Amino acid sequence: MQQIFGVDIGGSGIKGAPVDLDRGDLARERYKVLTPHPATPEAVADGVVQVVSHFGWSGPVGVTFPGVVTEGVTRTAANVDKAWVDVDARALLSGRLAGLPVTVLNDADAAGVAEMTFGAGRGRTGTVILLTFGTGIGSAVFTDGRLVANSELGHLELHGHDAEKKASTKAKEDEELNWEKWAKRVHKYLAHVEMLFSPELFIIGGGVSRKADKFLPMVADGIRAEIVPAALQNNAGIVGAAMAARRSATI
Ligand code: BGC
Repeated sequence: MQQIFGVDIGGSGIKGAPVDLDRGDLARERYKVLTPHPATPEAVADGVVQVVSHFGWSGPVGVTFPGVVTEGVTRTAANVDKAWVDVDARALLSGRLAGLPVTVLNDADAAGVAEMTFGAGRGRTGTVILLTFGTGIGSAVFTDGRLVANSELGHLELHGHDAEKKASTKAKEDEELNWEKWAKRVHKYLAHVEMLFSPELFIIGGGVSRKADKFLPMVADGIRAEIVPAALQNNAGIVGAAMAARRSATI
């Protein structure tokens, strides 16, 4: 059984576990620490170190980040401390983890990679788009199983607004929208993404995917693509991070 460590940095928690890459599942129960506030690079790195050392891990580590990541450098920080912009996160985390090899990638891309191999996107060809609804809206775009990284479709403009400000689950909570009102916004958003990309499949991820029956039937009207909830739910980021770290370790 091949194992690699995966860490998911989120707005409320930093979660991680060794991942069984044959099964695409956690090899041990995950460990979580609260995300520090402000979530500065140094403070978050402390959290990552706590999670990794909880398991006495020494091997490759994959880490998700809720923003654009190119070559291990975090480029945007829509929902985390702005101090993350242009930080060499790979070097920072590897340095704090006694030189362990670290791979950093966008959180939705990580979830997408896991879903395409072990979840709702398994075996699917053509254009597949995973959208995660949470504090923001994350996206992962695949064409014949290959990821187009850092797509950032949550920041498409809809009626003059950043889409995630209107259709994320945070917007639902902040504006106290009922399922129907929120689903209308999600529907408009999906129709817009469909107009631009014509995917065959939308995978809806994020915590809200657990409540798919409450809103998915309402967002599908008039959308040609198939729309399904994510299968791996909470652990997709951790699993995808570990998969990305394996890929970097074998290049
Ligand atoms: C960020 C994305 C991220 C998404 C979900 C957005 O605000 O720009 O990079 O994937 O939130 O965390």
